[in-house]
Amino acid sequence: MSRIAYVNGRYVPHGQAKVAVEDRGYQFADGVYEVCEVRGGRMIDESRHMARLDRSLKELRIARPMSPRALAVVLRETIRRNRVRDGIIYLQVTRGVAKRDFPFPAENTRPSLVVTARSNDLDRLEQVAAEGVSVVTVPDIRWKRVDIKSVALLPNVLAKQTAREQGAREAWLVDAKGRITEGSSSSAWIVSRDGKLITHPLGEDILPGITRSVVIDMIKAQGLPFEERIFTVEEAFQAREAFITSASQVVLPVVRIDGHSVGNGAPGLITTALRRDYHRYAEIAV
Ligand code: PDD
Repeated sequence: MSRIAYVNGRYVPHGQAKVAVEDRGYQFADGVYEVCEVRGGRMIDESRHMARLDRSLKELRIARPMSPRALAVVLRETIRRNRVRDGIIYLQVTRGVAKRDFPFPAENTRPSLVVTARSNDLDRLEQVAAEGVSVVTVPDIRWKRVDIKSVALLPNVLAKQTAREQGAREAWLVDAKGRITEGSSSSAWIVSRDGKLITHPLGEDILPGITRSVVIDMIKAQGLPFEERIFTVEEAFQAREAFITSASQVVLPVVRIDGHSVGNGAPGLITTALRRDYHRYAEIAV
């Protein structure tokens, strides 16, 4: 089936979807994005993703491309036209098209909005989750405001490529003090030897992951021991379980870190339960 993209007011065949060469997203990575899971044709955790989009836009002083209500319609229509049941929806907003010059363009420059959707092979993803994945650690060389979901992702691209070249699915980013901040496109978690779920605290040095926030709600609702604190690579090597969270992968067990087996080298019980129960706690859009 042919794919359809939404580009600045029009639904166009994916292969013909184009943005201007002087779009500031293309020239300066001057834009933000969101990725939302689609399950059974419905968006998952839409409100939280839209709230984070608003925050990213506000932090960069980019205007909203349209009202939240209109955007909700475009997202649904893009899912529908692409007949996505299980997959993701991607949206990107940039500061718009203007002559290449560093300062913000004229006030009346309209932000650009692109929305795409694609299906994922759920069976394949379940198979990956059943086996667990490997991660490798790489230095975190990103800028100091990675809490903004900006399209400037070159360090993430390089980190992910390093992971792929080493046969791993994800790269865990490590700061100058040997502490893990997050994955190149996911939040990082460990379960300590004494059974505490641990993830890096919110701040300017990690993305406030939406899946992370729902998992925290689950942990609290279930009364599981939880610590939002910094952890080191050494601690991760000693962990009983480890996992990553993201909209596209939900909760994915990590069974190897830099070649060290995590726990007994199989997906952990807590991780597996969190993955199984996630959608009971997530918001499912109408
Ligand atoms: N990545 N940290 C980083 C650096 C990310 O890029 C992402 C998401 C996450 C997890 O956030 P969330 O749970 O809201 O998906 C954490 C998306 C999926 C991507 O870039 O494709």
